[in-house]
Amino acid sequence: MKDDQEHLDKYKEAVRRMKNLPAEHPWNYYQQANIHCQYCNNTDDVPVQVHFSWIFLPWHRYYLHFYERILGKLIDDDTFTIPFWNWDTKEGMTFPAIFQDASSPLYDPKRDQRHVKDGAILDLKYAYTDNPASDSEIIRENLCFIQKTFKYSLSLAELFMGDPVRAGEKEIQEANGQLEVIHNAAHMWVGEPDGYKEDMGDFSTAARDSVFYCHHSNVDRMWDIYRNLRGNQVEFEDKDWLDSTFLFHDENEQLVKVKIGDCLNPTKLRYTFEQVPLPWLGKIN
Ligand code: C2O
Repeated sequence: MKDDQEHLDKYKEAVRRMKNLPAEHPWNYYQQANIHCQYCNNTDDVPVQVHFSWIFLPWHRYYLHFYERILGKLIDDDTFTIPFWNWDTKEGMTFPAIFQDASSPLYDPKRDQRHVKDGAILDLKYAYTDNPASDSEIIRENLCFIQKTFKYSLSLAELFMGDPVRAGEKEIQEANGQLEVIHNAAHMWVGEPDGYKEDMGDFSTAARDSVFYCHHSNVDRMWDIYRNLRGNQVEFEDKDWLDSTFLFHDENEQLVKVKIGDCLNPTKLRYTFEQVPLPWLGKIN
């Protein structure tokens, strides 16, 4: 994790407070995790599927944003930001140690113990088969993969962000962008290898693992980098995207309606990412 101890300790404390809230409180840790779960299944009473399309990045940005505001409120720090798991660097390609202390509120026993222990290297192409290559080779492949993802999708946002889905359309399966594909690998790699792949390996339980938010913080950061590399041009000049709205409860327990077009510049949501070296950036442009 690219972050100082003080910042990580704040995250830990905020999550501890969230877990200690009464079970029915809307900010309770598991209530918050359920928000993700509600939007992840393809059933008739679900308002929108937030994976597999161009909705993926903006919905998760808003989800993290409100989560972050609530955590900040719980520790009385409105500058609080969720630390990001920088799996796009060599140093970040192992499971972050802070989540591994069994006495910490960040701990989750439902993880693939072979991966989260002892410095195993995260494979960004993981799909339930371990990469037999050496650690340094996996690191090299990961960096190449990220670089190629950016390079080849720079001129076409669908490739990076996902394909359009529009209201009333039947959902198009496998329309996800390449960033979502990379993100899935980390989910699968962290979750249990058997059964329902809990917690991280299944969308219905993923947000119960506190590493989920740090993982998504990095996904969100990747989107921001992508945007900067494209000179901050709008990804989709399309009303069906820009005017799509979601409902969230904010840090004042108010129901708010938010629009994709309003989250494209993260500084407007009052956060920026700490600038750190991008070892894969090399020859993109
Ligand atoms: Cu809604 Cu990482 O998934």
